[in-house]
Amino acid sequence: MSEPTLRVLYGSQTGTAQDTAQRIARQGRRRQLQVQVLPLDSYNVANLISESLVIIVCSTTGQGDPPDNMKNFWRFIFKKSLPVGSLSRLDCAVLGLGDSSYPKFNFVAKKLHKRLMQLGASTLLPVGLADDQHDLGADAVIDPWLTSLWANLFALYPSLAEVIPLREDEAGIAVSRLCFLLDEREDRLRIPTEQTAPSQLHPFPSRLLSNRRVTDTSHFQDVRHIEFDITGSNIEFAAGDVVMMFPRNAPEDVQQFCQLLRIDPEARFTLRATDNTAVPARLPQPCTVRHLMERYLDIAAVPRRSFFELLSTFATDELEHEKLVEFSSAAGQEELHIYCNRPRRTALEVLADFPHTTAELKVDYLLDLFPEIQPRSFSIASSLQAHPNRLQILVAVVRYKTKMHKQREGLCSTWLASLNPEQGDVSVPLWVKKGSLRFPKEKDTPVIMVGPGTGVAPFRSALQERIAEGKNANVLFFGCRSESKDFYFGSEWEEMMKAGHLSLFTAFSRDQVSHTLQTPEEKVYVQQRVRENAELLWDLIANKGACFYIAGNAKQMPASVCDALKEVFQQEGGVSAEEAEQMLTAMERTGRLQSETWS
Ligand code: 2AM
Repeated sequence: MSEPTLRVLYGSQTGTAQDTAQRIARQGRRRQLQVQVLPLDSYNVANLISESLVIIVCSTTGQGDPPDNMKNFWRFIFKKSLPVGSLSRLDCAVLGLGDSSYPKFNFVAKKLHKRLMQLGASTLLPVGLADDQHDLGADAVIDPWLTSLWANLFALYPSLAEVIPLREDEAGIAVSRLCFLLDEREDRLRIPTEQTAPSQLHPFPSRLLSNRRVTDTSHFQDVRHIEFDITGSNIEFAAGDVVMMFPRNAPEDVQQFCQLLRIDPEARFTLRATDNTAVPARLPQPCTVRHLMERYLDIAAVPRRSFFELLSTFATDELEHEKLVEFSSAAGQEELHIYCNRPRRTALEVLADFPHTTAELKVDYLLDLFPEIQPRSFSIASSLQAHPNRLQILVAVVRYKTKMHKQREGLCSTWLASLNPEQGDVSVPLWVKKGSLRFPKEKDTPVIMVGPGTGVAPFRSALQERIAEGKNANVLFFGCRSESKDFYFGSEWEEMMKAGHLSLFTAFSRDQVSHTLQTPEEKVYVQQRVRENAELLWDLIANKGACFYIAGNAKQMPASVCDALKEVFQQEGGVSAEEAEQMLTAMERTGRLQSETWS
């Protein structure tokens, strides 16, 4: 049998599935296969009928949903009109990336695999179920799965067994060989399509209007209330929606990167893919190295194993080569974890640790080495009714310590915090996406919202929207450490209360016992306020059809609030623990209990 083209298709939310797909593609090329790697939604699904070899790598998001870049594919493949047996020519394999601490572990991969079988495809091996919770990371499943995959493919196509050694074939290992050409033309101007809403490919260049710290300077955390001008953007959103944006690398990091690689940041180039892998669509052509590195390639993320694999092929320094090969090997994964993942070392810091290899890096491979920067999302904290042509967010600047001396920083929040609207026009390209929270249309349905910390953001949007629409049955539970340090929007809540539009319950976790070290038992959290207001909540939920919302940091909080709610049901409704649990599940199923959590 002659070798077919291998399509490696992926559905990736944060880039892990994409990275794994590219790794499979590199391995395929080393086996002399023609390989194409594509996000599932960029693939013409109708072609699946004539396809003979497809590998799908897909992750499952928190709620058991497929990633955004496979949503169209997902809808298509489950169409009832697809005839059984239509994929009878296809040999396929599905690799799922998931996290077993979530209830719907690898749901997308399992369901997709079953569907492909139902449509008549043959499977090369059982569906792979990689687990982030595994002690040795997802690779503990992926590595043996890949070994079986190639072995089974070899049985079908014996000529594939010969593997080209990595160091002898640089060209074969790159997913996208790119030519960097000096080019003097001006940046291609993008012509925005009239009347279409801004999107990932065509974000709207909003103007930053304000960027204000809303926590006291003595507070441990820097939290920003940021406002963008979206006049003329066609952007519309409702409470619960999220705004998306691409963060940028810090200028000093880009400077250091260019120094390490000995490249001129102002050099202009045009990218041309030398195989069928597309150049990132949002990259202007031509552009400078500085522009590419600041906006498109992620040098601040913790690099994956494939990074070390590729880096090792450039190493000529013996010591560095040895170390990089070890980090790329299956046996070196624990070592790599200790060196890289645990201290959350960035790709840039790794490059600095391997200076000889870094100086040898060919720029042609930059796009293979670094993943693209992924867009970040923030709950919108304002409503268009209260703030026309404006979009506001509430952002906690992520800073934490690991064993590394240098403080770790969140890429997007640090970049946002660095923007100063007083230094000229600051433009932030953005677009909006439907969020998971939905608020009731009916005027009389009360809403109960529990949003400690920055979890209050979508509820501020909901309150502004609801009050503008004359929906005045609103209850908010807000929690923070201290009334004087991180009580966001305190004066706004007060006004809403005075006007009779809001009942507010606060839990200031560290205010009640000053000057003593507090134990967890002494702290007051929102769930305690929920318990204390059992009678009110029961009346709203049982008699008035209220909807209940939870938003915020996903550690213990959402579960503790649900526990408190079940106690309310038991105490006020006289139901058993089991019945309370069933009531909660029923509320969830019917959309009367919704949550949006993040870490
Ligand atoms: P703490 O930091 O004093 O522990 C916003 O972050 C608020 O949520 C803070 O007051 C914080 O309290 C509180 N918080 C922390 N863990 C919580 C939990 N498990 N349940 C509810 N609130 C929590």
